[in-house]
Amino acid sequence: TKIQKVGLFGFGCVGQGLYDVLANSRGIKASIEKICVKDRNKKRKLPASYFTFEKDEVLNNPEIDLIVELIDNADEAFEIVSTALKQGKNVVTANKKMVAQHLEELVELQHQHQVSLLYEASCCGSIPIIRTLEEYYDNELLYAVSGIFNGSSNYILSKIFNENLDYDLALKQAQDLGFAETDPTLDVGGFDAKYKLTIIAAHAFGLFLNPDTVLNLGIQNLSKYDIQYAREKDYKIKLVPHVSKVDEATVTLFVMPQFITRTHPLYNVENEYNGVIVEAAFSEKQFFSGKGAGGYPTGSAVLSDISALTYGYKYEYKKHLQHIEVNSTNNIEVEV
Ligand code: HSE
Repeated sequence: TKIQKVGLFGFGCVGQGLYDVLANSRGIKASIEKICVKDRNKKRKLPASYFTFEKDEVLNNPEIDLIVELIDNADEAFEIVSTALKQGKNVVTANKKMVAQHLEELVELQHQHQVSLLYEASCCGSIPIIRTLEEYYDNELLYAVSGIFNGSSNYILSKIFNENLDYDLALKQAQDLGFAETDPTLDVGGFDAKYKLTIIAAHAFGLFLNPDTVLNLGIQNLSKYDIQYAREKDYKIKLVPHVSKVDEATVTLFVMPQFITRTHPLYNVENEYNGVIVEAAFSEKQFFSGKGAGGYPTGSAVLSDISALTYGYKYEYKKHLQHIEVNSTNNIEVEV
């Protein structure tokens, strides 16, 4: 097969991670041709000839087969991704906020232009959860998906519980390690986990939801009494997104901090690790874990999508629960 020529947008933590991961994966037939970046003054570890500051130089380049979008800004990312799809190019993205906010439109664009958009790296870093939900479970058989979907919040909680570290210092470390979003409110406020939950709900149940309608409570308002109580009971606190079928006609979803007992599968998921619990008929409870943030784990998921595109992989979006009512409980007033 011929080498896929990649046009990359963004060269931050994940972009650089992808570069290294690709450079060390000889079997993958892809090479990064051009990288579009924003900051003209940043020092970068690759020769200047790799970089451009003009989007069109990548998007309109007929040599480039595939666009990989790894920038921070969700609105700009949507511009880039939708333009590329309309031009008939396949796209890989890790942008959970962008995918969650525009999923229905992105599905439509893929159909219209006969292209494929893959975003395994948008959910839970190295855990192949989207493809698993797509491929493994038949419609109707899934009951629930929950877990830990945000590495930064889990890192902070782990440091608080295991090392007695102070919240602000733990957050600073999560930022220094490249786990946190540029605006860490997205992490600690439960927004990032909610975007991932929205994407997962689409692949698990065929639900296309506006993430703004889903309740998210984060870890930023946990008090020392919450922590103290958990310690006394030998619990931990984890930030847990949850989507489940309540009955044949209702699905409920939300993101909330939760007490976790010692025997719970999420109890030992620590630091930047994520965990996903899937509950389904016959297979019953399954548990997946792996690193959920960081350049290499996320880069490995991007690489896997690039590789899947070389054999023509597409998401089928085949789950369709009919007449489902969504109860996201976002209208509940919560006193803090
Ligand atoms: N900020 C995200 C996290 C990065 O902490 O999980 C990975 O999506």
